[in-house]
Amino acid sequence: MSTAEELREQVRQRYAEAARSVSDGAGCGDGGCCADYSAEQRGELPEAATLASVGCGNPTAVAELREGEVVLDLGSGGGIDVILSAKRVGPKGVAYGLDMTDEMLALARTNAADAGMTNVHFLKGMIEQIPLPAQSVDVVISNCVINLSTDKTAVLIEIARVLKPGGRVGVSDVVAEDHLTSEQRAERGSYVGCIAGALSRREYIAGLEKAGFERVSVEFTHEVADGMHGAIIKAVKTSEPT
Ligand SMILES: C[S@@+](CC[C@H](N)C(=O)[O-])C[C@H]1O[C@@H](n2cnc3c(N)ncnc32)[C@H](O)[C@@H]1O
Repeated sequence: MSTAEELREQVRQRYAEAARSVSDGAGCGDGGCCADYSAEQRGELPEAATLASVGCGNPTAVAELREGEVVLDLGSGGGIDVILSAKRVGPKGVAYGLDMTDEMLALARTNAADAGMTNVHFLKGMIEQIPLPAQSVDVVISNCVINLSTDKTAVLIEIARVLKPGGRVGVSDVVAEDHLTSEQRAERGSYVGCIAGALSRREYIAGLEKAGFERVSVEFTHEVADGMHGAIIKAVKTSEPT
């Protein structure tokens, strides 16, 4: 196994374990992440979906979803953001969740059924190779997942591919201050705990611009380790031909 495959397997095992522990009443992981949902949003969700949340923000709060839109959540975990998105886009819209971990997919499907959602689909796959056609999605959201990818360039290119021209991305992630080297990031926490693999602010902006996005912003919301922050990243896929 290559180092990237080993890391991916560690990530998969870590989140399979997190999915299993939800049935024991544990929640919110042990990494540097912790999600930020309002009491009103929590009230819209089955308890297991809230317990399964291991994100680092609340992308549905920043993505400005509209009725009838198609939304894709990368690394959907227990399904919390997919369920909230499905409610925002309504019965004429669709919310897809994509995850590589069977245990998380099973949990998400149960949570969506418990919430009575009919406009959600959970797909098994990698965020580096999204199993959806080009230009089929209005909004991509994600909550504390892109830092876990071993090929972030591929993820950003895939997001650009599946979005319609003018489509939006609004994600939460852990982001490092620009001065931190990869070694310094690794000293602050583990890869599977969302810290060691984090991009810096400058790297995130450059990666999104190179993939064909404009109006890119990376806003730090809360510090999760020295020089490492929960952040909201927003961008719009350019409508210019490439
Ligand atoms: C930190 S959890 C976040 C889950 C969810 N977004 C939330 O906020 O609760 C990371 C999730 O991403 C999934 N994941 C990590 N890397 C992935 C990849 N490369 N492709 C697909 N899923 C991935 C894991 O299986 C896990 O469910």
